[in-house]
Amino acid sequence: MRIVLVGPPGAGKGTQAHVLAKTLSIPHISTGDLFRANISQGTPLGLEAKGYMDAGRLVPDEVTIGMAKDRLAQEDAAHGFLLDGFPRNLVQAKALDEILAESGIALNGVLDLEVPEDEVVKRIAGRRLCRNDGSHVFHVHYNAPSVEGVCDECGGELYQRADDTESTVRNRLEVYHTETEPIIEYYAQQGLVTTIPALGKVDEVTQRAVDALEQRKQA
Ligand code: AP5
Ligand code: MG
Repeated sequence: MRIVLVGPPGAGKGTQAHVLAKTLSIPHISTGDLFRANISQGTPLGLEAKGYMDAGRLVPDEVTIGMAKDRLAQEDAAHGFLLDGFPRNLVQAKALDEILAESGIALNGVLDLEVPEDEVVKRIAGRRLCRNDGSHVFHVHYNAPSVEGVCDECGGELYQRADDTESTVRNRLEVYHTETEPIIEYYAQQGLVTTIPALGKVDEVTQRAVDALEQRKQA
């Protein structure tokens, strides 16, 4: 399946994508994780992205679309993928349509994770990520690792993201409302969107997502 996950910062896109990708045997492609990997490796792409990310703004479309296109061209994405954090505005959504159309394929569905704003603020404040693999995501209260500061999946060191500060989160939420929410309407007009309440335990939300995707498959 070819799926896009959308939702505000801290909604749980990365958390859900990590589980769903394993269940569906398709790659989890997160543009945020790709940028963070470039930053930690000190690549020119990472250097360019860092300023925008730390300010809570979108990295320019040419850079982001090029990176996403390269990733989607890799062999593991040939039989499906779960996109997390891309597309994030209408220009990117239309670019994705073109990239897929070049291969004669299209999206199967868009899962929209719905979470109240006060909850996303709490989720972001306690989030910890693994230095070895940014898709290993924890929370100091809601999803605590067995040993504080240590990743349960691989033993890596846990850290707090540079853009998880209060003022950056405010900017990220504003950018979400003005730039990203319009893509939900864009995809809704194509009949692709299922909105899932993303409150509740991680595995309860996963079950809602799996049920929604099952219905999409049968549609
Ligand atoms: P990105 O990395 O995509 O960040 P984001 O969209 O702000 O989303 P987050 O990763 O913060 O949240 P999430 O929904 O993945 O939540 P998570 O699963 O971690 O982007 C970062 C930046 O990169 C952007 O601001 C931009 O600068 C740049 N960028 C990226 N893509 C771009 C693009 N396409 N174009 C331009 N720029 C781009 O969960 C959050 C916390 O909640 C965790 O601690 C988790 O353990 C916890 N949690 C999850 N689910 C639950 C639950 N059900 N109950 C309780 N806690 C939960
Ligand atoms: Mg994420």
